[in-house]
Amino acid sequence: MKLILGQTLSFFADPFEAGPDEAALWDRRGGVVVDDTTGTIVEVGPADALRRVWQNAEVVDHGDALILPGFIDAHAHYPQTGIIASWGKRLIDWLDTYTFPEEARFGDPGYAAEIAARYFDLVLSNGTTTTVSFCTIHPESVGAYFAEAQKRGMRVVGGKTCMDRNAPDDLRDTAQSAQDDSKRLIDRWHGQGRLSYAITPRFAPTSTPEQLEALGALWAEHPDCLMQTHLSEQTEEIEWVMGMFPEATDYTDIYDRFGLLREGALMGHAIHLSTRERDRLREAGASLVHCPTSNTFIGSGLFDMAGLKAEGHRIGLATDTGGGSSFSMLRTMAAAYEVGQLRGAPLHPAELLWLATAGSANAIGMGGTIGTLAPDYEADLVVLDLASTPAIEQRAARADSIWEQLFPTIMMGDDRAVTATYVGGQRV
Ligand code: GUN
Ligand code: ZN
Repeated sequence: MKLILGQTLSFFADPFEAGPDEAALWDRRGGVVVDDTTGTIVEVGPADALRRVWQNAEVVDHGDALILPGFIDAHAHYPQTGIIASWGKRLIDWLDTYTFPEEARFGDPGYAAEIAARYFDLVLSNGTTTTVSFCTIHPESVGAYFAEAQKRGMRVVGGKTCMDRNAPDDLRDTAQSAQDDSKRLIDRWHGQGRLSYAITPRFAPTSTPEQLEALGALWAEHPDCLMQTHLSEQTEEIEWVMGMFPEATDYTDIYDRFGLLREGALMGHAIHLSTRERDRLREAGASLVHCPTSNTFIGSGLFDMAGLKAEGHRIGLATDTGGGSSFSMLRTMAAAYEVGQLRGAPLHPAELLWLATAGSANAIGMGGTIGTLAPDYEADLVVLDLASTPAIEQRAARADSIWEQLFPTIMMGDDRAVTATYVGGQRV
């Protein structure tokens, strides 16, 4: 047993619905008891009481630092690690200029393994313990991702990106090979320890109707897998795709027609949606994934968090590395705050933090497993120094609530704020 001490903060309700203070459980001097052998949380409570009960536990005292559930990045592209922060393009040109040439390199298992290791080093140093990532069209890129995560004991989701049109020759599969390769990868990796597979059509413009149909059929055969894709990110993209599927009512309807819209569908971006699409997405039980640094970096638009939450959508938060400009969920929360401001609806620190933990966990169907500090949850934790730089320290010193103490780290913090990251109860 390990007794990890510090401030503790977690949610037992959605702060968008219940309100920040009603939804959160904060302890100025708290602790988390972790079972090292199972990697799960045994108890959460006040430090003094836990010390009395768990006298033989190994104590790790983080002092004033804040213990949180590890961050959950609900949409990323690990193969884009090497081309993050590439200048000057909008979505389609950005894909052609920077992304596709880089992704073409992942047929080489050695290169895929090197980038997967670098990617997980980066996300863990930023306090992210679960990633949901697109790989490339190459099965080797999926193997590299899952093997590296398994080595580190991480709970991750990934899948082979499928594209059979509007991509370079060396980045195209077919309807049949996409289905066969994805199926083989599901058999190999899905449910192995903490690994889960997501069936992954990149987005409708890079799949033929035959490929979308094949992947819809595959999902029906493997209903407990997730499905991840992109939806309505840029206006040019929407015009382009509607020309390819003239029979569809709208972009959402394209996925719907092929059995790709139901609970377990993770829709990246979801910015430019009609009322019909919003209604249909909610009714279908799909999750929307907000990627704010990507949406400002690629110039896509402003996600309607307040409106969509009020309508009852399930929403996660994500970096979208490397269309997103950061590996950090702190930076991502800051960008979500700024996008909210530009829409006239600033998000409360509790809402931001919930989105990066329990909210993303719910969005990927793991709300009972990760993202919360409570007994029986997996012990993936991040410990934040709330005074990690002089600028943050001097502002946090004036705080008169935990939210005010935390907000400067959300807005100005980076990997220097991450004191420790625990995966399955083990410090990494
Ligand atoms: N739409 C299709 N592929 C991508 C991608 O790799 N990144 C982003 N941001 N949008 C996409
Ligand atoms: Zn993406």
